[in-house]
Amino acid sequence: MTHHPEETLVLVKPDGVERRLTGEIIARIERKGYEVVDLKMLVPTREMLAAHYEEHEGKPFYEPLLEFMGSGPVVALRLAGDRVIEGFRSLAGATDPTVAAPGTIRGDYARDWGAGVQKNLVHGSDSTLSAERELAIWFA
Ligand code: RTP
Ligand code: MG
Repeated sequence: MTHHPEETLVLVKPDGVERRLTGEIIARIERKGYEVVDLKMLVPTREMLAAHYEEHEGKPFYEPLLEFMGSGPVVALRLAGDRVIEGFRSLAGATDPTVAAPGTIRGDYARDWGAGVQKNLVHGSDSTLSAERELAIWFA
């Protein structure tokens, strides 16, 4: 039987692209051993972002989040590897970059800017169900 490794959606958010950190982020993913199966750069539409972030609708950071995520190009990556969902979340670090552990992407390169939303460089799917749902949005 063929082995089908797990897949996840990673986004380099507009702050990551603008700060020229795309290469550094992909390098960390590759050095960890995960495979980049597909990749694209795009400015997401409001519709895509509303679908992607539907679980956060109504939260105080929802509007700032959609505005931030639509503010410039994003790099979307389809990654493959056993336990890649959990593994990438570990590479990314905690949501709040102020307390994200040093050694993680957010801990090393992100900080608080006093905005209504945390600009934390990357997104990674948080479950197999989210990964499937999100990959369909970004790699339709
Ligand atoms: P992501 O979905 O981007 O991988 O991040 P996450 O799971 O660690 O965080 P989540 O709770 O899903 O929130 C999605 C994104 O919304 C922004 N956020 N800002 N209080 C705040 O300022 C705040 N809370 C959330 C972040 O950009 C977070 O990654
Ligand atoms: Mg999330």
